[in-house]
Amino acid sequence: MILVTGATGHLGKATIDFLLKKGISANTISALIRDESKAADLKAKGVILLTGDYNNYGSLVEAFKGVDKLLLVSGSDIANRGTQQKNAVIAAREAGVKHILYTSFERKNDTDTSPIAMIAKAHIDTEALIKASGMTYTIFRNNLYMDALPMFLGEKVLETGLFFPAGETKSAFALRMDMAEAIANVLTSEGHENREYSLSNTENFSLQDMADVLSKRSNKSISYTSPTAEIYTSTLSKAGVPMEYVRMFAGFAEAIRQGEFTGEHTDLENLLGRKPTSMEDFLAKVYFVK
Ligand SMILES: NC(=O)c1ccc[n+]([C@@H]2O[C@H](COP(=O)([O-])OP(=O)(O)OC[C@H]3O[C@@H](n4cnc5c(N)ncnc54)[C@H](OP(=O)(O)O)[C@@H]3O)[C@@H](O)[C@H]2O)c1
Repeated sequence: MILVTGATGHLGKATIDFLLKKGISANTISALIRDESKAADLKAKGVILLTGDYNNYGSLVEAFKGVDKLLLVSGSDIANRGTQQKNAVIAAREAGVKHILYTSFERKNDTDTSPIAMIAKAHIDTEALIKASGMTYTIFRNNLYMDALPMFLGEKVLETGLFFPAGETKSAFALRMDMAEAIANVLTSEGHENREYSLSNTENFSLQDMADVLSKRSNKSISYTSPTAEIYTSTLSKAGVPMEYVRMFAGFAEAIRQGEFTGEHTDLENLLGRKPTSMEDFLAKVYFVK
């Protein structure tokens, strides 16, 4: 039995769809959900639905019984997910899970000096807990989703240009769907015991590279400005963006500038057996396909 948590979210649901596409029977896949109204499609596909919450230890132990491979999708509640994921790992061990797979986060700086330490901390702690648990593990170090870029850059970059304090550093962002496919490939093949994979693109792109792609495709000049953190913060807050978002965007921009997401790995390409989706194809789909 394979169990996927976060099954009503983007990554979990896409991973289950890839498992089904690969011919895994729906009755050998269980989905941990907390809201059945979001799981009608999974139910229609014949996937076993189990209700559980990372905050409710007993519900996790119950759901994880009889599971051979558990894909623990990291939680979305940033303030509380450290404790939540600790619950999940300890529950997995208590329930007798054989192999735990965890969607962690790509990074270089594990210390408090990282501009995204607040995001990274729960991942670092969960990885350590998993490794100390004695269960067989596989850790996916997911690079920043390409899918998140429009949130940072805005929907109107073709009119406004790119305004983001990430400097000239190149990063290996990857498409969430590619990550889901790679994870499904790992769940359905052997040889991934106690391995860590960087789910990063094979190509690295800077914000200027993205502006160049957009310029070429639109036949007009799309500029890229990398302001100082102070100018960026004051411009966004004057435009009415809530401070918590401004701080988060500025933190990610600084992490990109410091090379936290620069990739030198081919794990994603190897696991997919093809090149990951390129930045060109992603930008074309987001900004040019109506
Ligand atoms: N690499 C990146 O760029 C990046 C970007 C964003 C997030 N992430 C991380 O990757 C994870 C997966 O990404 P995604 O796009 O699939 O996120 P998502 O669509 O927000 O899905 C998160 C899933 O976690 C579930 N969840 C949250 N809190 C839970 C709890 N207390 N108990 C049980 N389930 C809980 C959610 O359940 P509901 O459907 O009931 O809400 C949802 O199914 C995120 O949760 C986050 O940790 C990575």
